[in-house]
Amino acid sequence: PADPNQENPPIESLAEARLSVQACRRCDLYANATQAVFGEGPAHARILFVGEQPGDQEDLAGKPFVGPAGRLFDQCLEHAAIDRTEVFVTNAVKHFKFEPRGKRRLHKRPDASEIAACRFWLELETEFLEPAVIVALGATAARSVLGKVVTIGKVRGAPIKRGNDPPAFVTIHPSYLLRIRDREDARREREAFEADLAAIRDLA
Ligand code: URA
Repeated sequence: PADPNQENPPIESLAEARLSVQACRRCDLYANATQAVFGEGPAHARILFVGEQPGDQEDLAGKPFVGPAGRLFDQCLEHAAIDRTEVFVTNAVKHFKFEPRGKRRLHKRPDASEIAACRFWLELETEFLEPAVIVALGATAARSVLGKVVTIGKVRGAPIKRGNDPPAFVTIHPSYLLRIRDREDARREREAFEADLAAIRDLA
């Protein structure tokens, strides 16, 4: 069963956190996922990108943003002249939450308690990286990073100061771009996302 107050041996580096997260029982999601998907990127990264949770392909690969949303994210990063190998990419929730549907596993949104339980890991990532900016991709990430429910449209596109914590920057999740049916809308939204990424690059 889940143990929201699970005790961990002291974790002193990103590498230790990466190992410890596999034994996480802070919420129930560990039970059905293949593995926990920890963040990826160099310890000197200036930008910390936070997505929602691993998807089907990320769950199997053990790496964040390698599926369809990840490929689109890579293209947008490239367009904004951000080198993915120089940034740290992670998720608010480290285990894939899904509903079986035949042979497929359909993504389910993590709930408030799962997001809260998993902040333990995001806080460790933030502490060890000390990034210049934390980027929340979409509403789940924004909720985890800012600690409250926000409307993307209202907080998007400008850095949010947070005392001694690194500033946050909220934008859309790349999977949103994959769901837009109208071509013209999709092009416009992609350009807006790429403009956000360019602003983030300049902040870092
Ligand atoms: N969507 C996310 O939020 N994170 C991933 O790692 C992949 C897809």
